[in-house]
Amino acid sequence: MTRLQHFGWFCARGFGPQGWGAPALGWNWDWTRPEVYQQASRELEQAGFDLLIIEDSPSLGSPETIDLRVRHAFGGPKLDPLLLAPYLFQATSHLGVVPTVNPAALPPYTAARQFATLHHLSGGRLGVNVVTDTGSARHFGAEPPLGHDGAYDRAEEWVGALRRLWRSWEDGALVADETTGRYADGSRLDAFEHRREHFAFDGPLNAVPFPGAEPAIVSPGGSPRGLRFAGANSDVQLALAPLDRASVEAYRERVRLAAIERGRDADAVRVLFAVRPVITTSSEEADRLVRASAEPDDATLHRIAAQQSSDLETDLTTQDLDRPLDTARFGEHVSHGSLRRLTGEHDLATTPLRVLLTDLAKLGRLGDRTGFVGTADEFADLVEDLAGWGGDGVLLWGDLHPVTLHRTLDDLVPILRRRGLLRTQYAPGGLAENLRAF
Ligand SMILES: Cc1cc2nc3c(=O)[nH]c(=O)nc-3n(C[C@H](O)[C@H](O)[C@H](O)COP(=O)(O)O)c2cc1C
Repeated sequence: MTRLQHFGWFCARGFGPQGWGAPALGWNWDWTRPEVYQQASRELEQAGFDLLIIEDSPSLGSPETIDLRVRHAFGGPKLDPLLLAPYLFQATSHLGVVPTVNPAALPPYTAARQFATLHHLSGGRLGVNVVTDTGSARHFGAEPPLGHDGAYDRAEEWVGALRRLWRSWEDGALVADETTGRYADGSRLDAFEHRREHFAFDGPLNAVPFPGAEPAIVSPGGSPRGLRFAGANSDVQLALAPLDRASVEAYRERVRLAAIERGRDADAVRVLFAVRPVITTSSEEADRLVRASAEPDDATLHRIAAQQSSDLETDLTTQDLDRPLDTARFGEHVSHGSLRRLTGEHDLATTPLRVLLTDLAKLGRLGDRTGFVGTADEFADLVEDLAGWGGDGVLLWGDLHPVTLHRTLDDLVPILRRRGLLRTQYAPGGLAENLRAF
């Protein structure tokens, strides 16, 4: 049985001034130009990664809190990753590139045609990370935003519509016979009418069929509705879960059941567990980093407060570090997941902000599974464990600078290869073929 695992890289703050304020900026990259991402993509391909996923959110958030998002560039500005994709395809030959798209922002016919174009241009290497954020609804019309599950219902209709459009050229529709001069057979094109709850349009798609698999559908939502979406539609699920055996096995099982429920093979969805390791050259260095992180200085706490302020759309930077937060500050718009991450095990109403932020600053060791700081060998042990517990691979999380990639991958890649966990060559075909190769 193969031990090979799938590896993905998640560019976690999108196509923006990621790393603002970080030393890597001293390399003089211009974040609006493609070169830095092209170089990083080549490194990922050399490393044997299956796919690069680029986070996105089309919105800068609520009008009252825009400054919190852009002040330190934690939540924006961001350019559209779909339009970065062709530059990355041009720089690579095998890597799958997966921009994030919200179905609210791109009507199905336009989406199907643009994705078909990129998939052809790249030799079958496009994937789409389908997200259902509803906070950006105001940019796309005056309708009130859908609820959490309603947005997933719309996303399912959208993915179904894309696939019907991609399949609207039946087998034999593309003739391309030079002897008769016939290029295509219009009687084999499906001029269907789509009239459903969220979208209305007609087929067929003005494109040609794919020689191989369709663009891969990727999904990150972990709620019960999110996993039902994955079971029905996804080729890859990005899983955010505690990385202990029970949690990983339970997550895998939920995805398996969701696939079976929708008539798909139990293992149709590749599940990649998200992790952001800090790879050190020795365990002593890892111990040192972990010890130092337990006593963050005020500057570190302020930086974390600024990042949290962007995620929570609530200004924490003006709050007294030594008093509990005024919980009335959190409006309806605040994401419950982000709030849970800030609160951790504590009581929000009585815990001083310093304690909450210090917990967020604290790192743990890979070796004893209290966190993700450790040597490449310790990380490879984790990858092996995840594989044994039913995972299909890992999603490494960070910015998309070659500096970050080298820091994370230089020691790791040879060790993963030696242990037979990381591919040394790509399968013929595109992203979906590589995902299915093992
Ligand atoms: C690994 C990962 C990547 C994500 N990427 C994005 C993204 O690029 N854009 C976005 O709006 N939301 C992103 N999300 C958030 C999810 O789309 C979703 O809104 C969130 O997980 C809540 O959905 P749920 O209630 O189904 O879990 C991501 C989540 C995870 C775990």
